[in-house]
Amino acid sequence: MTKETWLLTGGAGYIGAHIADEFIRAGKSVVIYDSLYQGLEHRIQYLRTKHNIDIPLIKADIRDYNELEGVIRTYKIDGIVHTAALKAVGESMEKPDEYFEVNLTATNELIDIAKRNSVKKFIFSSTAAVYGSPDTMDPCREDGPKAPISPYGDSKYQAEAKVTAFINTPGNHGTSLRFFNVVGTAAPELLDNSVENLVPIVLGKLNKGAAPEIFGTDYPTKDGTCIRDYVDVRDIARAHLAAADATQPLPPALNIGTGRGASVREVINLVLAAINKTDTQVIESPRRSGDPAFLCADINLAKSAMGFTAQYSLEASVKSLF
Ligand SMILES: NC(=O)c1ccc[n+]([C@@H]2O[C@H](COP(=O)([O-])OP(=O)(O)OC[C@H]3O[C@@H](n4cnc5c(N)ncnc54)[C@H](O)[C@@H]3O)[C@@H](O)[C@H]2O)c1
Repeated sequence: MTKETWLLTGGAGYIGAHIADEFIRAGKSVVIYDSLYQGLEHRIQYLRTKHNIDIPLIKADIRDYNELEGVIRTYKIDGIVHTAALKAVGESMEKPDEYFEVNLTATNELIDIAKRNSVKKFIFSSTAAVYGSPDTMDPCREDGPKAPISPYGDSKYQAEAKVTAFINTPGNHGTSLRFFNVVGTAAPELLDNSVENLVPIVLGKLNKGAAPEIFGTDYPTKDGTCIRDYVDVRDIARAHLAAADATQPLPPALNIGTGRGASVREVINLVLAAINKTDTQVIESPRRSGDPAFLCADINLAKSAMGFTAQYSLEASVKSLF
């Protein structure tokens, strides 16, 4: 069998680089396409050295459609994992047009280019933000209500529709994977360099000598703080491999989480324990608007559709960061 070649947009990013690592380990060729807006070339350099192979890195914007099409033709791409995106929820409120242009319009164009060039496989990075701020303590099901509350979540939700149309075309394969809160790392070289998620935010504060902050301690949860589903980035990468190699048609969207919730207080305590600073003061602030008490994945569909369950515990994910 000839080696499959996968285009990884955003492949120099935190999650994309972990997917590259997993795909190469599984015997696939990868081509990275990333503007390096947030991605880091040294992640690719690390992977080249680790696997002792050349990994093409095309430094270009996904809105450069001529370049994108040229790359897909040049490398005879079999499948696309599309992680390139803008992902800061707060920033998306300030720059909605840019978020829709990068996350929605460019995804639609990429899929049209894929179709024109007979690419048959497409896996899209979607997000739990498509569920918005649910008012229940039940895990989110893929077929449950979708009500994104930010341009970020909305841009991803609308982009899923185009992915669904693509995979519904006979002969095509793929899905939208809705990641919950991604944590951990396979190596220090691949660490998350953004400060969008709780663990990097807490670590950033501690590094500056500042106290971690909890927004809302009066939620109807076991310790009053919000509960989220933290899934290890290595599990996210494994989920992509499972989706890429699935022999049966996949549902249009799959949650990728652990199905277990951890509270903000528990996560902060885990981080403080990992750095031996359990006596650190934690600031308790009022709730932020839009934060649901509980946002966790129903993971049954990913399990039944492609045999995927997350393997890493939150403790292991936090440990991997040190
Ligand atoms: N990290 C999470 O917790 C999380 C959760 C849910 C969904 N996601 C989704 O997963 C994907 C990857 O996220 P990540 O955490 O690795 O973020 P990241 O910022 O590390 O990776 C995104 C990559 O896309 C690249 N990029 C951005 N705009 C681009 C453009 N216009 N042209 C080309 N490249 C561009 C960036 O340079 C970066 O390398 C995103 O689509 C994000 O929405 C992430």
